[in-house]
Parts: sequence; structure tokens; C-alpha cells
Amino acid sequence: TTGIAITGSGAATPSVLLDNHQLSQLVETSDEWISSRTGIRQRGLATTEVRLSQMAASACQNAIAMAGVQPTDIDLIILATSTADDLFGSASQIQAQIGATKAVAFDLTAACSGFVFGLVTASQFIRNGVYKNVLLVGADILSRWVDWSDRRTCILFGDGAGAVVLQASDRDNLLGFELKSDGSLNSSLNLACQPEPKALTPEITIGQGKYLPITMNGQDIYRFAVKKVPEVVEKALFHSGLTAADVDWLILHQANQRILDAVAQRLKIPPHKVISNLANYGNTSAASIPLALDEVVRSGKIQSGDIIATAGFGAGLTWGSAIFKW
Ligand code: ACO
Repeated sequence: TTGIAITGSGAATPSVLLDNHQLSQLVETSDEWISSRTGIRQRGLATTEVRLSQMAASACQNAIAMAGVQPTDIDLIILATSTADDLFGSASQIQAQIGATKAVAFDLTAACSGFVFGLVTASQFIRNGVYKNVLLVGADILSRWVDWSDRRTCILFGDGAGAVVLQASDRDNLLGFELKSDGSLNSSLNLACQPEPKALTPEITIGQGKYLPITMNGQDIYRFAVKKVPEVVEKALFHSGLTAADVDWLILHQANQRILDAVAQRLKIPPHKVISNLANYGNTSAASIPLALDEVVRSGKIQSGDIIATAGFGAGLTWGSAIFKW
């Protein structure tokens, strides 16, 4: 089997920002409530004309440049998203925009776990020798699907895209993973299609597509994350032949500072090893892990050889962890 190395990262975030003070003009809330309960101070918002595929393509271009590969070298593009421009899929749009003429491209949906699920999916194609160069991009524009009058959810989310390049390598830097789903808890977090009845004939009524805004039971999700994420990270570390003491950096899905702190505490990983940038971006769903990774890679904080533990968690419910060496 072939080894896997992550050789580049890239990000793209909207230039339009909405801070907690501005948000408190829209709904009954305050900077104090939002910052103390979530750690979020502002979020980037995609304006009407922004296409998810464009934002994702920018992140991909930055990752390709860091990896030093050409778009025409890319064999596969996986877009992890829950908010595609097109329900038929948006990955091919990225392929066309960046000129990755050789690449096959498809979407993968696993909500806020999408990046970790995508990383594991991408790595299988490299492991078995089928592809050498894979682009994985997590991108979401959840602002399009938030009920902006619901203060329990609209304070949490932001828009963004983050990408990595995975390449076949003599080194094997993807050390281990564990993925999980539990559909019995699905109703805790939804962005659900609610078809409206439409009578085509007196006998046949079909459902005309329509999506409801995001609904969430915040306390259910909080309890789920704090219990399940440490377990899945420990499992992934075990498959890697490592323990939490070996982790140099913990990069969790950036949902909430309290979840980050509680998970790290349960794993006994000290705060200085926990990467957090949600104050500036909010919860960017499938984009949050690669956005945080790209920031610390570009700042020089992460050094070659460092052990990075990632974990995503969210709707489905889905959760998962991947351990890799930078
Ligand atoms: N501003 C002011 N007050 C608010 C706000 C707000 N934005 N939102 C809720 N409140 C009020 C509620 O109405 C409630 O008031 P009441 O007691 O008078 O009814 C009170 O604050 C407490 O509400 P709770 O929902 O119990 O607040 P909680 O302390 O649980 O915090 C939060 C809410 C921050 C959402 C928390 O539950 C949480 O972080 N959960 C995890 C959510 C998450 O991370 N989801 C995404 C993960 S998956 C993915 O990324 C898609």
C-alpha cells in the first residue's frame, strides 16, 4: 500500500464580516452572551453573488500553490459540503474553474464532519494506488440556510472554505482514523427538505422541494460532542499506535469554545495545544478544520513532523477523527 502525505493547505473566507454588536441589532442578544457561551466574536458572510464553488476554488488554488503541483496533476477533487450551489453537486464546477482537466470530482455530505470523512475517503484512493494527487475542500455557506430571526442558531454560523492537497508518498503521514454515525439522533440538528404537496393528477400528489432553515437542539449537540468526540479521538489515536500525550496539536471542528475546552480537558491535552480561530469565523461547518489548519500552517506554528489530531462532529449525527503527521 502507498503512503499519504498532506502537502498543501489553503483557505478562502468572505471579506464581509458581521460582529456580535451588529448581530445584536438583528436579534435580542449581546456580545457578552455570544462571546461567553461560544467564544465567537464575528463571522464572515457570503453575499448574494458569491458562489460556493468560487470560494472553494480559491481555497483549492491556495492549497495547490503551497503543494507545488499543477491543477492538471490533480486526479480527484472531493468537495465536502452541505450547501452546494446545486443539489446535483458542485465539485465539477471547482474542477472547471481551477482547470483540473484530468480530475474526477464529486460532492460528499457529512455536515461538520465532512472534512474528516473526506480526508479518509480521499486517502483510500491513494492507499490502493489508484490516484496520486487529491484535492479535498471543505466549504459551506450556512448563512443561506439560517433563520436570521432565531437567536439560538443565527449567532453560531459563518461561511468559508478550506482545502488540502493529499499526495502519494514514501512517508505515511495519515496514521489512523475512526468514523461514526448515529441517525437515531438526527432530529437534534437539521437542514431538512420539507416537500410541499402538489397534485399532478387527481390520484397522484408529489412533493415539491423546499428546504426549512436550520433547526438545532443546542444542549443535545453540546452533550453529544463533549461525550463522543474524546472517545473517537482516543480510538483514532489507538489505531495510530499513539496516545493523547503524543498529540502536538488538537484541531477540532470549530463549533464552540466551550466544546473545544471540554474535549481537550477530557483528553488531558493542554490548552496551548488546542487550535482555535472560531472567534473570527464562527462555525463554518465542513470548512472549519482546514481553515484552522491553514492558519497555523501559514503562521509557522505547525512544524514538519508534528502530530495533529483532528475531529469533526455534527449533523447526521456524524463524528470522526483522523490523526496525521504534518
Ligand atoms: N442571546 C441571548 N440569549 C439567548 C441566545 C442568544 N443568542 N440564545 C439563547 N438564549 C437564551 C435562551 O432563550 C434561554 O433563555 P430562557 O432560559 O429564558 O429560555 C437561555 O438563553 C439559555 O438557552 P440555552 O439554549 O439553554 O443556552 P445554552 O447555555 O445551552 O447555550 C448554545 C446555547 C451556545 C447553542 C449551546 O447549547 C451550544 O453551544 N451547543 C452546541 C451547539 C453547536 O455547537 N452546534 C453546532 C455543532 S454541529 C455543526 O457544526 C453543524
